[in-house]
Amino acid sequence: MTSIHRTDDYHRNGAIDLFTEYTVCESLARAGSPSLGALTVRKPYGALVGAFLDGRGLLPPGCRICEIGGGYGSLMRGLLEEHGTRVGHVVMADLSRYLLKRQRRALGPWSDRTSFLCGDAVELVSALSGIHCFILNEMMGDLETWTNVDPGRLPPEVDRFVRQYGLEIPEKEPFHFNLGALSLVEALCRRGVSALLTEHASDPVVPRGMEYLWEGLTPDGYPREIRLTGHSEFTIRFSHLVRVARAWGRTVETGSLLDFLGVENTPKMRFVFRMRAVSSDEWEILYEFLDHAREYRWLLVRPA
Ligand SMILES: C[S@@+](CC[C@H](N)C(=O)[O-])C[C@H]1O[C@@H](n2cnc3c(N)ncnc32)[C@H](O)[C@@H]1O
Repeated sequence: MTSIHRTDDYHRNGAIDLFTEYTVCESLARAGSPSLGALTVRKPYGALVGAFLDGRGLLPPGCRICEIGGGYGSLMRGLLEEHGTRVGHVVMADLSRYLLKRQRRALGPWSDRTSFLCGDAVELVSALSGIHCFILNEMMGDLETWTNVDPGRLPPEVDRFVRQYGLEIPEKEPFHFNLGALSLVEALCRRGVSALLTEHASDPVVPRGMEYLWEGLTPDGYPREIRLTGHSEFTIRFSHLVRVARAWGRTVETGSLLDFLGVENTPKMRFVFRMRAVSSDEWEILYEFLDHAREYRWLLVRPA
């Protein structure tokens, strides 16, 4: 039956354990993280995100950045450790007071330049001003999702998005629809700000030269449920987000998170993945990292 799926209660009230979710950010959070062995440049996730933003002119001196859904604060800690001299102020915003406390602890060394806000992502994007760039890492899958939608009887909010942006939907099969993620991208476009978004994709892409990673993946799928401790999240159909951002005249770039992170494209990686080679701890970690991260995409939306 068609219904709307929300995780607000879980995030507002739970003592959230991100290690049960295996976020890509946490698996690459620290200089010694074993999964960093998969990357050409073995720096923590936040440092790589900072380098990417800096390379596109999105960390001008004194910039104000806002991360929404920052979990344990690891991304921002890595970014500030490597690029902190460029950053004027950071706003960390989250629905979870428990995680905001953890973020405050993680960012203790930068307490003079950080502030913390509790609230919902879509509302915060609409309310905050003076931000150069938003970062929304692996959080869109937690936002509202319409489930088991009948293509012949779209709920009014879904119908509005499908018509306004010409979104493709299945002809007959029931499908899940990322209402929250689309509302978020629409709010970012309306504000005319830059934003980097990453998430588990229902329509993944893989790095060129690593086509073996397609094995068992669906290239053009619709969102699927991922059951986690205490809640579920949904993969994101990036082609829908891209359509919304383009309709607003924004500059859009997107790709595989493995490319974004600079994963090593070597015969060893191919061997480990193809042979499911888990004969040592190192290879098991590499295999698990590749198998998990290959479904992730990034999206950068900027004013034209
Ligand atoms: C899966 S965790 C990802 C954490 C971190 N970004 C990472 O990659 O490890 C999702 C994060 O989004 C937050 N979150 C979930 N729903 C939210 C909402 N509606 N508004 C703001 N934050 C939300 C959670 O509390 C948590 O910090």
